Amino acid sequence: MKKITKAVFPVAGMGSRFLPATKASPKEMMPVVDKPLIQYAVEEAVAAGITDMVFITGRNKRAIEDHFDMAYEMEAELEARGKHELLRLVQETVPSHINCIYIRQSEPLGLGHAVLCAAPVVGNEPFAVLLADDLIDADPPVLKQMVDAFDAHPYSLLGVQNVPPADTGAYGIVCIEPDSDGLQQVTAIVEKPAPEQAPSNLAVIGRYVLTPRIFHHLRRVQAGTGGEIQLTDAIAALLEEESVLAFPFHGIRYDCGAKIGYLKATIAYGRKHPEVGQAFTEFLASLNVGGRP
Ligand code: UTP
Repeated sequence: MKKITKAVFPVAGMGSRFLPATKASPKEMMPVVDKPLIQYAVEEAVAAGITDMVFITGRNKRAIEDHFDMAYEMEAELEARGKHELLRLVQETVPSHINCIYIRQSEPLGLGHAVLCAAPVVGNEPFAVLLADDLIDADPPVLKQMVDAFDAHPYSLLGVQNVPPADTGAYGIVCIEPDSDGLQQVTAIVEKPAPEQAPSNLAVIGRYVLTPRIFHHLRRVQAGTGGEIQLTDAIAALLEEESVLAFPFHGIRYDCGAKIGYLKATIAYGRKHPEVGQAFTEFLASLNVGGRP
């Protein structure tokens, strides 16, 4: 199997849980401290050896394209003012050996449809999918863990984590069975089951490594819940003919697609930020002892 060099970033969703913040810009541009979510995801992909970043964009695509492009006027201004550290930050948003490719999803027809939009660029190669609103603090970064696992066993991989049983209705939920090599074979996957119908509480988190066969199934999947083409349904068809493995990654995951997860991420990343971490930690401590400042 070929090495994984392409990553798909579906960023065309409505982001309705973050309205009005997402009215005119994608939720993936929301910053955690000082970096947009999409940049954390791209940095994770770079750390995994990915060189081609494929963004599936929607109606508010401009901000993401601009973010990963040169910012001539800003760079000239920072240069003129001698702000070299800031200039370096702006110029290093994406390393020079990385290609950014943008594909427009004309309608938000679901995550599965968004991934299918990448087929002409991905071609007949295994590839990664990252949902930037799942911010995962891990060392090594989760996609690197997964790409290494794929190098050892070239099967599709789903990043998974246990979630509270009451939350299964928000996730794709898998059943697994360890095989004789100790690999966690996925035997079934269901989209957003109610807790009483969920086969387990092992949830798929926004990191995937997929073989190109997934496109065959995505083309055949019928629209499901909410008229959307679900990636989960295509994976269910894929595992009928190929091994699909669950990958219980090491790391802390923040669901930044929901307000509470986003706030938790902001606190966790703020506390360890090299510039403001100490002051922020002191501020949080003052809240604990003194209530509202
Ligand atoms: P979500 O299920 O989080 O949906 O999509 P959403 O629309 O972004 O957010 P809410 O639920 O309205 O608040 C999971 C991922 O799939 C992308 C989203 O951008 C997000 O990264 N997506 C979803 C697409 O790219 N296209 C779609 O049609 C749907």
